[in-house]
Amino acid sequence: MAAERVLDVGCGTGTLLRRARSEGHTGRLAGLDPDPAMLDQARGSDAAEWLLATAAAAPWDGEFDLAVMGGNAFQFLLDDAAVHDSLVAVRRALAGGGRFAFDTRNPVCREWRDWNPDHPYEVTDPAGARLRVHHEASEPDEHGVVAVSTVFAGPHWDRPLTASGALRFTPVERLDGLLAAAGFTVEERYGTWAKDAFREGESRSIITIARA
Ligand SMILES: C[S@@+](CC[C@H](N)C(=O)[O-])C[C@H]1O[C@@H](n2cnc3c(N)ncnc32)[C@H](O)[C@@H]1O
Repeated sequence: MAAERVLDVGCGTGTLLRRARSEGHTGRLAGLDPDPAMLDQARGSDAAEWLLATAAAAPWDGEFDLAVMGGNAFQFLLDDAAVHDSLVAVRRALAGGGRFAFDTRNPVCREWRDWNPDHPYEVTDPAGARLRVHHEASEPDEHGVVAVSTVFAGPHWDRPLTASGALRFTPVERLDGLLAAAGFTVEERYGTWAKDAFREGESRSIITIARA
């Protein structure tokens, strides 16, 4: 809220920026996401500018004070080249001294082992229907990439639907190398968005605030 110009990288359906606007943010808000279905939802609101693009294709130069990448969107960057190109573009979008805040799951906690049919949960879709969801995951490959399927069951379909994708788990020391290579200095690190201390051996999340 304190940053005048904010870019949400991998904004999904735009939840964060819509909330910032509804809570009184008066500055520039821009959201970027490469998934047309996600961005279609965001575009239902005029809270922010919305752009269909990957992080690496962010077109801005020195225009934002803060970039955020939440909801572990960083884990959709599946190799070092994608991370580097994305970080360089985010760095370029920021004004000098601007900050980049993002989260990524800590591989030390091996969270993918909980992504199985024994750990289902429920979500409510926009029409109010209850959907039962669970994930299925592989062990990571040599690059830390885990294949993930998400299985949805609900009243709209006569059998479950499966969406398949992949998420990369990056150890904290590797993360810092990638940030440095793109022109960022790590300023703060937390284990939760509530700013609990980061403990490498036990924090489920690596939350980084890096300065351009
Ligand atoms: C789990 S969602 C999180 C969405 C949003 N940040 C939130 O917290 O609600 C991850 C998002 O990352 C987006 N994404 C995938 N690849 C991306 C890329 N290369 N650059 C930017 N965003 C990407 C996906 O389309 C998806 O909307």
